[in-house]
Amino acid sequence: MLVPKDDFIGLDDQVHLCAGGETPALKSHQDAVARFFLDKARGEDGRDQFEETYLKCKERAGRLFNVSPEEIAFLSSTSEGVNLLAHALDWEPGDNVVVADVEFPSDVLPWTRLERLGVELRLVRHREWQVSVADLESRIDSRTRVVAVSLVSFLTGQRQLLHELSRAVRSSGALLSVDATHAAGAVPVEAGLADFVMSSCYKWLLGAHGVSVFYWNRSRLPDLKPPFLGWHTPATLTGWRHPTRYEPRPDAARFEPGNPSWISVYILENALGYLSRVGVPEIESYVLELSERVLHGLAELGLEIMTPSRPQERAGNVCFVAPREKAVMRWLDERGILIWGDSQRIRVSTHLYNTADDVEAFLETLKRCPLV
Ligand SMILES: Cc1ncc(COP(=O)(O)O)c(C=O)c1O
Repeated sequence: MLVPKDDFIGLDDQVHLCAGGETPALKSHQDAVARFFLDKARGEDGRDQFEETYLKCKERAGRLFNVSPEEIAFLSSTSEGVNLLAHALDWEPGDNVVVADVEFPSDVLPWTRLERLGVELRLVRHREWQVSVADLESRIDSRTRVVAVSLVSFLTGQRQLLHELSRAVRSSGALLSVDATHAAGAVPVEAGLADFVMSSCYKWLLGAHGVSVFYWNRSRLPDLKPPFLGWHTPATLTGWRHPTRYEPRPDAARFEPGNPSWISVYILENALGYLSRVGVPEIESYVLELSERVLHGLAELGLEIMTPSRPQERAGNVCFVAPREKAVMRWLDERGILIWGDSQRIRVSTHLYNTADDVEAFLETLKRCPLV
């Protein structure tokens, strides 16, 4: 066991194997939320506390991604981050963006808005559920501006080889955008290998909705302008005499037009503190061991597995094809086991609060399921 189940709300009477959908909340989040409400009642002093928690949270997010906190912005969601990027870059007709067909909709749809500017969206087709660096590279040419990938796939559980991918994309001159939603909190994320990284916080990061982490590789793109503006954009406010003049903040806060979801920032700060005390390398070894057991068990049942078996190519998600995924999900739920089923596949996620007994209980129950 890596951490006590008792640190979390709602783990007493169910086997929770769906961190890829939602994680249960830390009990200590209740104190973080109470602190937020107390600070909210304290006028301007309370606002100073908001700011202090926000800066502490950026420090923690920077450490998690191994980058400077000044390169981190807090947005409302990963979807917002991808859209922000699509709107922030200057495009020329004939440019293209490379994405794979197994990506989450928020990693594909924002780029379709650029088609009216003459920007081509190039879909890389998976082969037996996998997308290799070579597959992505084969669609990159001199007009490729962005290669957008998930570090760990929501659909298949495949983890991209980030060093290799970064080398390939950089040598082409394109930008690399990485959705780390299913990686951050479970495995290390070397954000500096990419140009942009975005992650939701309510899954593996143990936070809540309303805040997401957005990394901007400032040294590679120092002049990137924020596409959405507000009172928080300028380095200094010029006042009513010159209300239209502004110079954007030098740090990634330029991409936050207004107040972030402060309450979610308090929760995230607490979550990142918890994860850093356990240690991401320790979490990685632990989830790889558990997910390996899941892989073996599913193979013994003869199921079509979508996740690669090599440890460096997977993280906490193990996925298998299941045409009746919703019925299986309900059947297991009725027996106290939570997994996630959509897109005609089932995703079994193991995180730091899971145990080998959880995995055994799942496999034993699945063996009896008439629906797979
Ligand atoms: C890869 C990936 N990115 C992003 C999200 C969610 O994004 P958002 O923070 O915009 O809700 C999900 C949700 O399942 C996801 O799987």
